[in-house]
Amino acid sequence: MAGGRERFERLPGDGVRRGLVSVGDNADREALMELAESAGLEFLTLADPSAIVAGDAEVGPGSVLMPMSFVGAGARVGRGAILNTAATIDHGSVVADYAHMSVGAHLSGECRVGARTLVGIGASVTAGVTLGQDVVIGAGAAVVRNVGDGIVAVGVPARPDSSTA
Ligand SMILES: CC(C)(COP(=O)(O)OP(=O)(O)OC[C@H]1O[C@@H](n2cnc3c(N)ncnc32)[C@H](O)[C@@H]1OP(=O)(O)O)[C@@H](O)C(=O)NCCC(=O)NCCS
Repeated sequence: MAGGRERFERLPGDGVRRGLVSVGDNADREALMELAESAGLEFLTLADPSAIVAGDAEVGPGSVLMPMSFVGAGARVGRGAILNTAATIDHGSVVADYAHMSVGAHLSGECRVGARTLVGIGASVTAGVTLGQDVVIGAGAAVVRNVGDGIVAVGVPARPDSSTA
């Protein structure tokens, strides 16, 4: 969409009722979705035809399921989240609002991913692990323990990045 943020306010008047905020930064996407919602927009949920979503799974408005992504039985994805190419979320796991599962990132069963958290490309999270809000999991990490809010964790096994801990 061309134009500044004020452009959102004109969308309903222009006959636009539903849309999608396609912005990579998780906090920016949250802010823009809130702005769009206050302007009266409703959000689409976009899923590539190759994405697989279990019958009892839930995916919130404004979320995007990229090719070959997978949402397992009983799993839940909040609003404005991104499941990037070939990202997988196994049974019972929860991905909160505005989180991003990067290309080829994997959650085992019963995991929790907090709001605006980024699980980096190719990272894996073992069963039952909880990641807090605004966490960054580095590319290729193997997360085997819970990670608190705002922490950057890298490596195998993943540990807090000393520069941010
Ligand atoms: C973890 C991360 C956030 C760190 O970014 P950064 O703060 O800019 O870090 P730098 O590149 O300055 O590297 C700092 C140090 O951490 C190391 N490092 C960086 N990323 C790492 C990773 N994923 N795993 C292990 N070590 C890592 C670097 O080698 C460097 O170590 P050194 O000081 O010994 O040389 C980033 O590297 C990363 O993995 N981001 C994920 C991006 C991603 O997956 N995006 C999704 C696209 S779909």
